[in-house]
Amino acid sequence: MKVLKGNIVHTPEFGRLETFENHYLVEQEGKVVAIEKELSEKYKDAEVIDYGDKLIIPSFVDIHLHAPQFGNIGLGMDLPLLPWLKKYTFPEEAKYEDKAYAKKMYEVLANDLYRFGSLRSCVFSSLHAEATIELMSIFDKAGLSAYIGKVNMDRNSTEEYVEESPEQSINDTLTVLDAYQNMSDRIKPILSPRFIPTCSDELMKKVGELAKERDLAIQTHLNENRDEIEWVKELAPESTGYLNAYDRHGSLVPNKTILAHSIYNLDEELDIMADQKLFVGHCPSSNINLMSGVAKVKQMVKRGIPVGLGSDIAAGDSLSMFDNIKDAIKASKLLSIYAGDESDIVTFDEAFFLATRGGGAFFGNTGAFVAEASFDALIIDDSTYRMNELTLPERLEMLIYRGDDRNIVDRYLEGNRLETPNF
Ligand code: GUN
Ligand code: FE
Repeated sequence: MKVLKGNIVHTPEFGRLETFENHYLVEQEGKVVAIEKELSEKYKDAEVIDYGDKLIIPSFVDIHLHAPQFGNIGLGMDLPLLPWLKKYTFPEEAKYEDKAYAKKMYEVLANDLYRFGSLRSCVFSSLHAEATIELMSIFDKAGLSAYIGKVNMDRNSTEEYVEESPEQSINDTLTVLDAYQNMSDRIKPILSPRFIPTCSDELMKKVGELAKERDLAIQTHLNENRDEIEWVKELAPESTGYLNAYDRHGSLVPNKTILAHSIYNLDEELDIMADQKLFVGHCPSSNINLMSGVAKVKQMVKRGIPVGLGSDIAAGDSLSMFDNIKDAIKASKLLSIYAGDESDIVTFDEAFFLATRGGGAFFGNTGAFVAEASFDALIIDDSTYRMNELTLPERLEMLIYRGDDRNIVDRYLEGNRLETPNF
């Protein structure tokens, strides 16, 4: 048991910001058990760590990113999705056949996620089983929690970067699934068929069967770009839409699916996403960089669709969730200007929710300091830039616009204070 004292700020629900000035946050067995103004007698023996005037916020959850694109951040932003994949992305991911290259890059990535306080993430690896197992082991050593999946892709890529057959793709996936036995429970498996254009019908069918057989989570891409959507229509002419092109292979798992982007959705697709609680990974930085469009996040949330925030590096240009939160806010304002609808605007606390509890819900009860939630927290020292008296909501707002990794002084995951990774 431990107790942190400070200024507690969190968003237990979309649109509800709660603050507790100079309160105690009580942890027991890795879970949040209480927030108290005066510490109860029953907790009096617990170790109290007094963080003074600092903020205590939930740690961040990055619901969508591509680990083997890490070395490309900031490069190749001159093309839209499909030519961008061929020219910049597939050649970079192909390099991860070399395990030494993978180790070097993945150690820096794990370090950066730690540094920026994204202690939970949902990650696409490359198509290589060996490099994926290396990635899992590095994240495990760093003390991070993540869903990590080897990408499946057996068509429409470059010659150097494609799987030979659906059978090979599934066999390599099974090799990776076996390796989870050697990792801590913080590292979780997730099937990762890249998207319909790079996955044959046979492969999608096998992925769907494997998901059912082993009760696995699944992550993929949906409705990101207009040319991509037209291509999916050609590749799957019998399906009623992009989501159906997955659904007809049984590869949507209720509560356990992440659909990155989901910008141009059909009405019936939105109904299915809400009914089956399919998570949307909102990736505003990526969507602006690749000129994809802007997702109507607020409308999706209002329909009951779970939404988290994703950096989607390297189409997105920053691992910092402060940056991604700002991008979510700014993208929504541009959308509202062009759509003429102010109800599309995402406020700072709403975007903060997406980066904490929104994506955190994919991991279960995480991302907010509610009873029984995983005790995942960041300690924030905002005294470096804060020059005047502010309320706690104002301090959160200013943190989003002015904060960076230097303001994060401590990190807790499942009740444990994380040390800087030792790579
Ligand atoms: N769709 C399929 N693959 C990718 C990818 O790597 N990045 C993005 N942004 N979209 C994709
Ligand atoms: Fe992506």
